[in-house]
Amino acid sequence: MSKVPRIAVIGSANVDLTTFSDKFPRPGETIFGQRFDLGFGGKGANQAVAARLCGAEVVMIAKVGNDLFGEATIKNFKAQGIDTAHVGIVEGVSSGVAPIFVEPGGQNRILVVKGANDTLRPADIDAAAKTLKTADAMVLQFEIPLETIYYAVEFANKNKIRCIVNPAPAQPANLEALRTADYFIPNESEAETITGLPVHSVEEAKLCAAALLQKGFARVILTLGSRGSLLAAPESAEVFAPFAVTPLDTTGAGDAFIGSFAVFLGEGLPEREALTRANLYAGLSTMQVGTQKSFPTRARFETEWQNRRAAR
Ligand code: RIB
Repeated sequence: MSKVPRIAVIGSANVDLTTFSDKFPRPGETIFGQRFDLGFGGKGANQAVAARLCGAEVVMIAKVGNDLFGEATIKNFKAQGIDTAHVGIVEGVSSGVAPIFVEPGGQNRILVVKGANDTLRPADIDAAAKTLKTADAMVLQFEIPLETIYYAVEFANKNKIRCIVNPAPAQPANLEALRTADYFIPNESEAETITGLPVHSVEEAKLCAAALLQKGFARVILTLGSRGSLLAAPESAEVFAPFAVTPLDTTGAGDAFIGSFAVFLGEGLPEREALTRANLYAGLSTMQVGTQKSFPTRARFETEWQNRRAAR
């Protein structure tokens, strides 16, 4: 029986309003979309739910607005068995929301209104310090204020907690303040924004990862969508092939990768296996519509893992 890891996610919670359409309106134009889906999202919340579905104990540090979405978000965390003692309700600001547009083939475009997520402060890390110190891993994304992320990374470093930073959505950041993170995990476009280097091929991905390592990160993982993922460390760079899937909706696949990777590592699996498993977990999430609701349970994941691993 493997260890049950304790994962602390410090990050955003949104409600996702997803429209599926084969065309998008031009300015001043009204057109019909094909389908709509309302669901729980936010990069932090998604990673928390993925970690929980994979079997971890999960604590969420987040802020929601005092509105219908905020209340529903907290209910959703509780229903999933996620500790909400450090999910605060803020007056006078909306909960985070994300209108999402999905093309046939699963590609998405996401607009995030951060709302209450933008009020998560370093003081909230201090308020949760006792709980955070019991975590095996701390997971952070970029939908909360950067000052809070820098503070949390320093907290993790001081307290020797494994720290995973997912710089999503990408924005200029002080990499010096993040470099003690154990893993820095951008996707292609995030890596491009952060480094200013193009990532259109695996070779370019390797150069980009090398530039991030130069900034002082110990390990960089670039998630490359249908090309799998790249693990780069000062001594090596290795591409992990994706598993074959037919995607319906890729929204949240990166979050599925991060949340599950934190759990597989926390269970003590070797890094390469943890990463290969996370590739599959993320791939499976693209086969269903929606964000959190597309994430497989651990039982379903294990069935797929046994079948697909044998076939490789
Ligand atoms: O990564 C997908 C997520 O990005 C969505 O759930 C949306 O809320 C945005 O945060």
